[in-house]
Order: sequence, then structure tokens, then C-alpha cells
Amino acid sequence: MAALLILNGPNLNLLGTRQPEVYGTTTLADIERACRDHAQSRGITLDFAQSNHEGALIDAIHAARGTFDGIILNAGAYTHTSVALMDAIFSAEIPTIELHLSNVHAREPFRHQSYIAKAAVGIICGFGARGYTLAIDAMLGHLEARA
Ligand code: DQA
Repeated sequence: MAALLILNGPNLNLLGTRQPEVYGTTTLADIERACRDHAQSRGITLDFAQSNHEGALIDAIHAARGTFDGIILNAGAYTHTSVALMDAIFSAEIPTIELHLSNVHAREPFRHQSYIAKAAVGIICGFGARGYTLAIDAMLGHLEARA
């Protein structure tokens, strides 16, 4: 049975009220519920976490080694700045999907740069909250293809 970690970075705890015109009105708790339902339907186990702190996200990636088969990471703004998160993903050697609710490539130029992408197996962005369940299926497909 595959085990996936869904990790959310800074400000994503505010989903639902944070810039709803960009991120929608779905809360992170709603997204977690949808992911847990989806995981159950796919027969996999799932952990879901959020932190506003770069170091805590790095610790979670390190701790995932040996426990999780795949990571789905919405690193929020750290996507565009964090060499340390990129290094953590390379170090953990766990397939990681970069995820964003918004289409970062249609937004400000500073959001076009991603350190996470350099270490990720793929990227999903622009599908809103539905991107999370899309990412679960994408990761399962990726893991199956490797098996
Ligand atoms: C985001 C996109 C990032 O650029 C932004 O800093 C976020 C959210 C998204 O899910 O669309 O915090 O990761």
C-alpha cells in the first residue's frame, strides 16, 4: 500500500479567506478532507501537513524518508526562493510533485522561477483545489510505472 505525504507551505493555512479571487474559497481543511476521501478510494495511506516555517518543512521532508513513497508539495512562496527545500528533496530521494492552486506561470514573473521544479518529478498548477487529488493520481501513476 502506497503512503503519500502532502505538505503545504506558508500562508496556505489561510486558504478560503486569502485572496479568494486567486486561490478560491475552499479551505485547507476542505482540501485535506477531499484528499483523505480520495486516498481511501485508491486504497493508499496519506498524511497531510502545513507549516509556515521553512525549517519545519525541511524537517518533514527528511522525516519522510523510509516512511512515505511520494511527496506532494505546495511550498507556497518558498517555491520561488528556497534552495534549502530543493536540497532537502534531492537528499530525501523521494519522488516529489510540485503543486500550486494557481497557474504560477500566468502570474508575476517572480513566480515563474521554481527551485522545487529542479528536484520534482512533475508539476501540477492552475487547477485550484482539484490539483491536490490530481496530484495523488499523478503520483500513483508515477509509482506504478517505476514498480
Ligand atoms: C501558490 C503559488 C505561490 O506563488 C504563492 O506564493 C502561494 C500559493 C499556489 O498554490 O498557487 O503561496 O503555491
